Amino acid sequence: MKRLASILAAALLILISHIALGQKPNVYILATGGTIAGTGASSTGTAYSAGQVAIQTLIDAVPQIQDIVQVRGEQVVNIGSQDMSDEVWLRLVERINELVQDPDIDGIVVTHGTDTMEETALFLDLTVQTSKPVVLTGAMRPSTALSADGPLNLFNAVVVAASQDSRDRGVMVAMNGQVHAAAQVIKMHTTSVESFASPNAGPLGTVLNGKVNYQTAPGHAPLHFDVSGLRTLPKVGIIYSHSGINADMANAMLGAGYQGIVHAGVGNGNIHKAIFHVLDKARANGIIVVRSSRVPTGPTTLENEVDDEAHQFVASQWLNPQKARVLLILSLTCTHDWQQIQEYFNTISTIHI
Ligand code: SIN
Repeated sequence: MKRLASILAAALLILISHIALGQKPNVYILATGGTIAGTGASSTGTAYSAGQVAIQTLIDAVPQIQDIVQVRGEQVVNIGSQDMSDEVWLRLVERINELVQDPDIDGIVVTHGTDTMEETALFLDLTVQTSKPVVLTGAMRPSTALSADGPLNLFNAVVVAASQDSRDRGVMVAMNGQVHAAAQVIKMHTTSVESFASPNAGPLGTVLNGKVNYQTAPGHAPLHFDVSGLRTLPKVGIIYSHSGINADMANAMLGAGYQGIVHAGVGNGNIHKAIFHVLDKARANGIIVVRSSRVPTGPTTLENEVDDEAHQFVASQWLNPQKARVLLILSLTCTHDWQQIQEYFNTISTIHI
């Protein structure tokens, strides 16, 4: 009788642990490379090559992930994010939109180089359609460095992706114990692990001890662009202003197939007189011109320092030039109406500020 009871107890334990196992959230990791997958010859030096280590090696390096979620992953590309391209963006969004349809997947993590993470995050934020968490993460130090930050960043990103509290927040970036909104986050430092911040709005929350804590209510930009079926994206470039600029580069863009130009102006998006007429000419040729600023914080406001209405320029509001470029690309997939595009910039700037 005693033996039967202990057999039954053991069976019950196995059943309970199976149920518990089944209840672990499922997180799917899409790997694209970057420093998190980088290796260096020395653990103390700063020289390394990004995009060397495959996804399974990254997952295996953080066995603690298996304690909290069921994890699967796939390698989309293995590149340094300086080489990120429209083609990879379109592949990523297609794959994520496919994965989030799977009822067994609770959240997605995208590992990514830090250099262009803010651009990919915004692109995905505006094109992926789901209430499930989609979280980008990476590392400032390669996997072979002393105190590599990748393993904890990956663990934290998985925590964020697995949490019910992360639903309906759009695409986020989890780096260095903080969670940021895609529209807000900026890479602020070239080498420090404390590189990502949302200087205009603050982070959405923090991750500590395997738990995410949000200081903000859920919310997501009421903007969505359907890029399914697209194989290319409109060509949009950035002109970076400076003292003594001349019209050479702006002129070169005129006949080069650009549908949009983002001007990274000085101050509140001011434009040097040497190129003002070129931007007017671009607009007259049907190119959409967005005024942004090379100043890292604060908005580029409409109708303050430049008569935008008269020139038919769009003010980028709170988006910096590289983020403004992302929104302009997506805007141009559905309209060339500069006023409608201004509305998109106004709309995205009302969230999380
Ligand atoms: C990259 O963006 O791929 C290289 C730099 C990094 O990931 O920190």
